[in-house]
Amino acid sequence: MTEGPLSAQTAVVTGASSGIGRETARVLAREGANVVLAARREERLHEVADDLEAAHDAETLVVPTDVRDEDAVADLVDAAAAQFGDLDVVVANAGLARGSDVESMTSEAYRAMQDTNTDGVFFLTRAAIPYLKESGGHLIYVGSYAGEYPRPYNPVYAATKWWLRGFAKSVSGQVGEDDVGVTVVNPAAVRTEFDLDGTSQAERFAPGEVVEPAEVAEAIAFAAEQSPSMVHELSLYERDKLTGL
Ligand SMILES: NC(=O)c1ccc[n+]([C@@H]2O[C@H](COP(=O)([O-])OP(=O)(O)OC[C@H]3O[C@@H](n4cnc5c(N)ncnc54)[C@H](OP(=O)(O)O)[C@@H]3O)[C@@H](O)[C@H]2O)c1
Repeated sequence: MTEGPLSAQTAVVTGASSGIGRETARVLAREGANVVLAARREERLHEVADDLEAAHDAETLVVPTDVRDEDAVADLVDAAAAQFGDLDVVVANAGLARGSDVESMTSEAYRAMQDTNTDGVFFLTRAAIPYLKESGGHLIYVGSYAGEYPRPYNPVYAATKWWLRGFAKSVSGQVGEDDVGVTVVNPAAVRTEFDLDGTSQAERFAPGEVVEPAEVAEAIAFAAEQSPSMVHELSLYERDKLTGL
């Protein structure tokens, strides 16, 4: 295990098979944490785990999980605590976008976003709170620029991220006295496999044009390391993001 600010701490990361979640797992392992990797693609998770073990001598646990399945999410959190003794950091990162215009959006697309980006976040938060109260741990949510400003391109995706921010801040009000830290990290465009319309963000943007997933991961790790204070919210955009407003 690498010695670092998160040594002997245990972190669960959802959406750890790709993009921001994969980089977050890497940075948390570098900082000394035991990392529990959750997403649906098991083979990918094992590849990430192998990388973390080789690069950082990290202790990892792979728990294939669909965040839309409340029992699976509860099992994920219980498995993390059972394996490592407690739970200190929970990163609610898994998320997706489907479709765009409301008038032509299928109910399937609508439900995919709701089920993953809001229900999944609720299931994870509910399961994690008892453990985080015990450890004085951190809940870290990956929101979005789309949850801070109107997003005409995809109002439903935007609304899931507005919901996430409202939920996170209200949960913070509920668990703050129990010494649980709650942070929302809002990236604008990030170069990952995140797919808006058949083209991934990594294909759409050249390196240097927008935020890299590793930068978001560093922000998440920074939040996880604050104690007894906490970062309430952190927004990470390219420098010219607001010039068109
Ligand atoms: N990239 C951007 O431009 C951007 C900007 C702002 C915010 N965000 C947010 O950042 C977060 C991470 O996205 P990303 O950019 O890293 O995209 P990504 O590379 O597509 O990664 C998304 C991750 O979510 C997981 N996931 C999706 N549905 C899931 C489910 N039902 N159960 C479990 N895991 C699920 C995927 O894993 P499996 O497919 O293996 O399950 C994958 O690991 C999302 O919440 C997204 O809304 C992204």
